[in-house]
Amino acid sequence: MKIEQDIIYLDNAATTFPKPEVVYQAMDSFYRQYGGNAGRGANPLARKAAGLVDETRVLVSAWLNAPEVIFAPSATVALNTVIMGAGLRRGDVVYVSPFEHNSVLRPLEHLRKTVGIDIRLLPFDKNTMACKLDEIKKLFRLEPPSMLCVSQVSNVLGLILPVNELTQITRQVASDCIILVDGAQAAGLQLLEMSRIDTMVWSGHKSLYGPYGIAGIAFGTSWRPEPLLRGGTGTVSESIDMPQEGVSRFEAGSQNISAIAGLNAALKWLHQTGREAINDHIQTLTQALTNTLSDLSDVTVYLPSDRNQITGIVSFSVNGIKPQMIETALGAKKIAVRAGLHCSPWAHEFINSTTQGGTVRVSVGNFNTEHDIEQFRSIVESVVCT
Ligand code: ALA
Repeated sequence: MKIEQDIIYLDNAATTFPKPEVVYQAMDSFYRQYGGNAGRGANPLARKAAGLVDETRVLVSAWLNAPEVIFAPSATVALNTVIMGAGLRRGDVVYVSPFEHNSVLRPLEHLRKTVGIDIRLLPFDKNTMACKLDEIKKLFRLEPPSMLCVSQVSNVLGLILPVNELTQITRQVASDCIILVDGAQAAGLQLLEMSRIDTMVWSGHKSLYGPYGIAGIAFGTSWRPEPLLRGGTGTVSESIDMPQEGVSRFEAGSQNISAIAGLNAALKWLHQTGREAINDHIQTLTQALTNTLSDLSDVTVYLPSDRNQITGIVSFSVNGIKPQMIETALGAKKIAVRAGLHCSPWAHEFINSTTQGGTVRVSVGNFNTEHDIEQFRSIVESVVCT
């Protein structure tokens, strides 16, 4: 497939691109051949669309190993649904990792100011980037968590957080703590112990290789937030209350069915390609990127001591040059990366990169090749070492 202007796309953390060919085909045929509205009536096209939505829900559930999945227009809406609907009250303690996105931090900050919740940072070692699990256990005993918000993978550093260990500790100390995993970057790449996780938010257009406009919540337990939106669901229409049961409680309004059609095709492609094959490829490219950047003088690469603890994303900076200038210079040479704070201010506080304007983030996906990394290597050398 030919990408616009022969760009080497290394910004897969913002959105994976390109998509599997079947995604484009499925979205095109939805609008050309059967564009009915799912769950609104029983005409043949509405039924076909409803069947597509149901099938996609089953495919997402299977890929994420979660008993129930609901759809939302974006991971941000899904995160707001969980956080704003969690019934948090004054004095409730919410623990977050230093790697959370503003889509988690801003709703929490709003609740801190309006309701009076307390936000606490989970301790991580600044040198090794290791999570201080023993310290966390002690903290949880002193101030038990009402909610834990933790990313599966940092969108700045590619750091894989020890979600399974953290949820285990949390359940030992506070069995009723609401656990929210932000899986926007990596949902499905590594399987999580979903029976301990109340909600995992996923994004269709990132690690699931689907289109924009479709995301959602995977529920691992029976806990449910209050819905964020209320409106028509095509079910229980005699009542002006939202349905109390089932997925439609969280899915007011017409669904983005063309995006669901694309996601459906993406999931079939994922199931067919296999988690391991995708992960192995991404790990190989990530290590090649890490080695390339670590070889350059005047370059700081932000890595954990255990280099196997990152996936897909490598952040770096160059002494004395703003990240945005590097991004522009690479862009001029047809390499697409993203510079700045990546909407994750505390991750940059953690690596002390805020005042320099953040980092340059390079991120790979399934459709990158070793040749892409070799080309990146020669171009980044010419940009950085001149
Ligand atoms: N959250 C996305 C990123 O990390 C958009 O770039």
